[in-house]
Amino acid sequence: MSGLRIGVLVSGSGSNLQSIIDAVEAGNLRSKIVCILSNKEDAYGLVRARKHGIPAYFIDPKEEDYDGRVLNCLQDYEVDLVVLAGYLKIVALNMIEAYKGRIINIHPSLLPKFGGKGYYGIKVHEAVLAAHEIESGATVHFVDTGIDTGETIIQGKVPVYENDTPSDLGKRVLDEVEHKILVQAIKKLEEERA
Ligand code: GRF
Repeated sequence: MSGLRIGVLVSGSGSNLQSIIDAVEAGNLRSKIVCILSNKEDAYGLVRARKHGIPAYFIDPKEEDYDGRVLNCLQDYEVDLVVLAGYLKIVALNMIEAYKGRIINIHPSLLPKFGGKGYYGIKVHEAVLAAHEIESGATVHFVDTGIDTGETIIQGKVPVYENDTPSDLGKRVLDEVEHKILVQAIKKLEEERA
């Protein structure tokens, strides 16, 4: 089996996207990224995509039927696994239904801790520090109709140090956990669906 046809949704820097691109190019994944979509025109993830010759599109959320357009695009590219990699937008019901069990997200905390409405980006790490946690990490999970509530695929941990700032912690979680477990989760799905 030749692997999965992956569509990646991004909103920002796309370093998680880069970890998937690198794993595919290094032959560590059998899957292929067939398209990259962003709800932000200036997302650096789009630049990364184009550097690697992957079709990449900005879809304007202000335009009519944004969610329908996203879904159409994924279907046009015959995507069979959708990866939300720093995609800071709630996914519409039509997409969750169309891709049930085939849409995954990465969240920068040890879910169910620090997940749900309002917990995104740096806010997650601020909350972890405010709660005096001694460890944090990230979770790759299936997307269901709740926010950060879907079944966990894989988690990874890092220590929290006393003098950490939210951005120190965020960088540690991103570099030491997110970039690894996202690729591991895709590999796991490749193996299960082979
Ligand atoms: C990551 O921490 C991701 O978990 C969160 O936003 C950050 C985005 O990083 N949702 P990047 O765009 O992949 O570099």
